[in-house]
Amino acid sequence: MPCPPPSDELVFFVNGRKVIERNVDPEGTLLTFLRKNLRLTGTKYACGGGGCGACTVMVSKNDPVSKKIRQRHFSVTACLVPICSLYGTAVTTVEGIGSIKTRIHPVQERIAKCHGTQCGFCTPGMVMSMYTLLRNHPQPSEEQLMEALGGNLCRCSGYRPILESGRTFCMDSDGCQQKRTGQCCLDQEESASSTPGRRNEISTKLFSKEEFQPLDPTQELIFPPELLRMTENPEKRTLSFYGERVTWISPGTLKDLLQLKVKHPEAPLILGNTSLGPTVKSQGQFHPILLSPARIPELSVVTKTSEGLTIGAGCSLAQMKDILAERISELPEEKTQTYQALLKQLQSLAGQQIRNMASLGGHIVSRHCYSDLNPVLAVGNAALNLVSAEGTRQIPLNEHFLAGLESTDLKPEEILESVYIPHSRKGEFVSAFRQAQCQQNALPHVNASMRVLFKEGTDSVEDLSIAYGGVGTTTVCAQKSCQQLLGRRWNELMLDEACRLLLDEVSLPGSALGGRVEFKRTLVVSFLFKFYLEVLQELKKLAKLLSVPVSALDSRRYPDISDRFLSAIKDFSVTTPRGVQTYQSVDSCQPLRDPVGHPIMHLSGLKHATGEAMFCDDIPVVDRELFMVLVTSSRAHAKIISIELSEALELPGVVDVITAEDIPGTNGAEDDRFLAVDEVLCVGQIICAVVAETDIQAKRATEKVKITYEDLEPVIFTIQDAIKHNSFLCPEKKLEKGNVEEAFEKVDQTVEGEVHVGGQEHFYMETQRVLVIPKTEDKELDIFVSTQDPTHVQKTVSATLNIPINRITCHVKRVGGGFGGKVGRPAALGAIAAVGAVKTGHPIRLVLDREDDMLITGGRHPLFGKYKVGFMNNGRIKALDVECYINGGCTLDDSEMVTEFLILKLENAYKIRNLRFRGRACRTNLPSNTAFRGFGFPQGTLVTESCITAVAARCGLLPEKIREKNMYKTVDKTIYKQAFSPEPLIRCWNECLDKSSFHSRRTQVDEFNKKNYWKKKGIAVVPMKFSVGFAATSYHQAAALVHIYTDGSVLVTHGGNELGQGIHTKMLQVASRELKIPMSYMHICETSTAAVPNTIATAASIGADVNGRAVQNACQILLKRLEPIIKKNPEGTWEDWIEAAFEQRISLSATGYFRGYKAFMDWDKGEGDPFPYYVYGAACSEVEIDCLTGAHKKIRTDIVMDACCSLNPAIDIGQIEGSFIQGMGLYTTEELKYSPEGILYSRSPNEYKIPTITDVPEEFNVSLLPSSQTPLTIYSSKGLGESGMFLGSSVFFAIADAVASVRRERDIAEDFTVQSPATPEWVRMACADQFTEMIPRDDPKTFKPWSIPIA
Ligand SMILES: Cc1cc2nc3c(=O)[nH]c(=O)nc-3n(C[C@H](O)[C@H](O)[C@H](O)COP(=O)(O)OP(=O)(O)OC[C@H]3O[C@@H](n4cnc5c(N)ncnc54)[C@H](O)[C@@H]3O)c2cc1C
Ligand code: FES
Ligand code: FES
Repeated sequence: MPCPPPSDELVFFVNGRKVIERNVDPEGTLLTFLRKNLRLTGTKYACGGGGCGACTVMVSKNDPVSKKIRQRHFSVTACLVPICSLYGTAVTTVEGIGSIKTRIHPVQERIAKCHGTQCGFCTPGMVMSMYTLLRNHPQPSEEQLMEALGGNLCRCSGYRPILESGRTFCMDSDGCQQKRTGQCCLDQEESASSTPGRRNEISTKLFSKEEFQPLDPTQELIFPPELLRMTENPEKRTLSFYGERVTWISPGTLKDLLQLKVKHPEAPLILGNTSLGPTVKSQGQFHPILLSPARIPELSVVTKTSEGLTIGAGCSLAQMKDILAERISELPEEKTQTYQALLKQLQSLAGQQIRNMASLGGHIVSRHCYSDLNPVLAVGNAALNLVSAEGTRQIPLNEHFLAGLESTDLKPEEILESVYIPHSRKGEFVSAFRQAQCQQNALPHVNASMRVLFKEGTDSVEDLSIAYGGVGTTTVCAQKSCQQLLGRRWNELMLDEACRLLLDEVSLPGSALGGRVEFKRTLVVSFLFKFYLEVLQELKKLAKLLSVPVSALDSRRYPDISDRFLSAIKDFSVTTPRGVQTYQSVDSCQPLRDPVGHPIMHLSGLKHATGEAMFCDDIPVVDRELFMVLVTSSRAHAKIISIELSEALELPGVVDVITAEDIPGTNGAEDDRFLAVDEVLCVGQIICAVVAETDIQAKRATEKVKITYEDLEPVIFTIQDAIKHNSFLCPEKKLEKGNVEEAFEKVDQTVEGEVHVGGQEHFYMETQRVLVIPKTEDKELDIFVSTQDPTHVQKTVSATLNIPINRITCHVKRVGGGFGGKVGRPAALGAIAAVGAVKTGHPIRLVLDREDDMLITGGRHPLFGKYKVGFMNNGRIKALDVECYINGGCTLDDSEMVTEFLILKLENAYKIRNLRFRGRACRTNLPSNTAFRGFGFPQGTLVTESCITAVAARCGLLPEKIREKNMYKTVDKTIYKQAFSPEPLIRCWNECLDKSSFHSRRTQVDEFNKKNYWKKKGIAVVPMKFSVGFAATSYHQAAALVHIYTDGSVLVTHGGNELGQGIHTKMLQVASRELKIPMSYMHICETSTAAVPNTIATAASIGADVNGRAVQNACQILLKRLEPIIKKNPEGTWEDWIEAAFEQRISLSATGYFRGYKAFMDWDKGEGDPFPYYVYGAACSEVEIDCLTGAHKKIRTDIVMDACCSLNPAIDIGQIEGSFIQGMGLYTTEELKYSPEGILYSRSPNEYKIPTITDVPEEFNVSLLPSSQTPLTIYSSKGLGESGMFLGSSVFFAIADAVASVRRERDIAEDFTVQSPATPEWVRMACADQFTEMIPRDDPKTFKPWSIPIA
């Protein structure tokens, strides 16, 4: 192979330090460079595609041309930034702005102290987004804050506290908790008196603003003077960086670029890399030469003329936003119609980081079908200024260009220099529309732009342009339809005709890519209707001004735009959420040093914020370490005929491929193999694993492993098919009480219905990862793993390697989110990595990328429920028969337990005399589903609550009345005969109704709905009885080990794992109370199977409870030993006593143990005491829906939760908020899409939408029910990790309430089929109207759909 010429030096700065790279690999990203080369691991990998913000850093550039702003600072996602693009820039990472070792930055301090970190994996990204904002705007507005954080996902916190921390920097914060005191104006120290011994003061203060350091912009890192000099005298020479496979060429002048384009016509220009990068990664595209025009000023020129605006193709979308906003403010409104439409689209296009990186040129030339800007530019008659070595020319950005016709496209040697966008004219109207799964930071399902020009002084169409995105392979211009409508008057006849023409021209086949075909068709005409109304409104205004007659509307077909119908036009705005969090403050008699009950910051909070908190993959490279990448099945059910490894093994860097044959011990269970043997049961099943020197080499080699299959029958994906094939994973679980059949005979009415609940991806921000280090002696292994259950990993590895458990030590420092997804899976991954480590004798690192993680690991079980409910006309439910099926996937995993929990918890808060619950787990050819926060409860209770709404609809009563009527009211027994008192449930319910002013708001909602036809509001309140814990005593045992060292410092170890839920913080609070010393004396290092053996998974909301009891026990033992010494010297200090104890040979180390809560269930008898206790709660949510698009806005949520005496109200409120938002995602936007072949499509944050910051309800209040006691648990606290999930269904039922009001008004028949999530698609199609009626419907037998429903 010829040797490439020497590369130029790549010079840039990181955190003020100069970096000179002489042999840079152009294929590398900034993220890998930071993490691997510079060991700056604060910047995290979570998706690799720009969609989550975990890798956010700030890039600063000097702009020698600009007079106004010399240095520009932008947030970028380091995973998409090519390393070579950084020439001459300064990068700032989370480590560069502050450190706990020196000085923390105010942003870092405030996010931690405001409790904005839980697992902390998203925190560095959040910090850097906020920091960049403050560098540009030291006193930002709340709007700017929301915009800055829109591209950062957090799966734990529910965003509220993150926002709260950012808000402390804002100039215009007002309202509750906004006086920057951290205290609410309602914080009046209310007094209640129900519990003796506690003063029951209610507090709303979770942090003290007084502690915060002020923001001092003069303390920030300055732009490196050397870079200033470099950019003031820019290098004109072409720079080249040669890698093994790719060459990066960065010319210094336009002339050179054009020459290079002649020489390398196939080479793409690389700007933001937000389009090229993802295609290289996911579609395997490869470009040996990349041309970077980043140093060419001509591509950033902006020219304003009296006719229009010309924007350089190299301008970022964020710059474009500013340019447009400025131009809009300068020109009369009639000239800025196109600019306003572009600006509107830019506001919801991606997150801030992507807008900062993506260029206008890259956006246009990529011609993505979902492009938000191309439709507007096309209808706005934009033109593309092209340049090549031959000269310049202009081409229109029209349907031919968008379709990629060769004659109208860029020639290979041409580049796009700038884009000309003409001003709009008098009598011209331009609008843009988009509908995505959620409001912000989501690719649109469909978008559109429309422009109409009227003959002067008339309503007669002179020119019309309509373009759609999302309905074809690129933007589709409805040229023919528009032509046929020329000369038509703007009236309902025209609209009617236009709809017909458009549906004909913009035709989507039933099998169209992306699915959602009927929804998309409906949006095509719904958007047109919106445009029609908007323009009509404008025409009416003009007509009034000019006294021109406007044709009358036929109100029978298209309602007149009275105020009632104007609601079609208004878009939902993004507002900054606010709210109040209330809890009971500690008893005034409690000693000041006792931290129990105080809102103590997460122990790792500051380290999360500075990036110093180490996660599994942040562990530095170990000597001789190798990387492992998994090879998975591409077939759903097949026999493996052969596995051909030779090609893979020949690749450079590849060391080995691990197959089932390499396993010395057991390869999982007979029907659940870690590495497939002979047969695969789902797409994504692990077959073998490549071990190589680097992750890239291993990844490339996986593509060379050739597996031949022979397909097997049957192939089952859906629950319906599983039922048909009698394909189940375990026997039916059943509970029954009373006599259901007899009761059905006696009731006034019965309703039968179906409920379909989709699955859910855990989407923990830290994907699954493990590092296995084999030791040289005695077959010992050290395993560092991100798991909720290290003992399970330890045992599994032991069985797989066939070595005793005592040789294996599992270490868990912290986990970047688990939610149930890291209970079972890490064991299999640990086992495969351990086989690799033992076989090769090298340490093995296995880090799943996001796509693989989502593909392989399964998630929440989708559910199909059928019910029959019998009730009296007054709403009293007498009998309920529910049959549930969950889609368990291809192996048992936790499916039997999930079925049991589902059945046990199904009754929720209701006392129904005659009940029958049956549940089955279906075996299908999908990846196995597993534990997920709530464990069946969030799916099952949706069935129960759907029965309630069905009964309400039939009785003509409100759902809340039915709920109230049927709720447990006095001490009673559950369906499985466990006694309990529902008193806290009733209190939560009443308080929730009261605090949310439910009844008056219900009236207001009804009033609103009467006045608005196209927008409707809905409100719902749901009660909750959630059982905590496992249904077996042995699962509640816990142990702790507490050492006191001779300097008085204390090391606490316990069996729980820190998943972000703050368990370590709570454990130190417990130890501090018991030992009567401050928390500062104490430390928790990690969870280790060597320190505390035989632990139970940290799950089922019970971790802090049981481990707290063990820690308490250990501390009490130690204190007892110290008692004689303390008695002897009561005035002594802790250090004195410890010294004396050591002298007296008293052991300063103790094991604490908790034998577990009593819990059992006898399924034969259908009775037991399966749960130690219940958590009660209630939530009320209000939403507004857009009937034409299916979008919704969350107006307000109030949660009241019975936490008893919270160990740490900040942590507990964080758990409630976080799980509520996660639940809200489950029930509204999180939608898994499978191909008819069983391939999961939704494998990235772009395709699977978890809630973002803009999804948080505008008003979000949480209060902990004061003054209840439960003597059972540690200090009367309750485990709150999971229960909030279900309360997210209040949003679902509020949406359903709004939809029901639409259907009532339109006289549409009741439908008792409930579908979750309530996506925009579902909402739109449920709000049937003339548009849903007019779309063509396909016979399902005539096409193969893009995706299949599996619930
Ligand atoms: C997470 C994420 C979310 C997104 N969300 C949205 C969204 O909601 N709506 C939406 O519309 N888009 C969205 N996008 C797409 C985004 O708008 C485009 O990827 C982006 O605009 C492309 O610009 P770029 O500079 O990054 O292009 P690059 O990736 O650098 O280049 C893309 C292509 O354009 C060509 N090119 C670039 N500049 C020129 C030029 N001057 N002359 C000739 N050819 C050129 C290159 O040769 C290359 O083939 C999203 C992207 C990501 C990663
Ligand atoms: S890891 Fe870079 S955006 Fe997700
Ligand atoms: S704290 Fe945000 S993802 Fe865990």
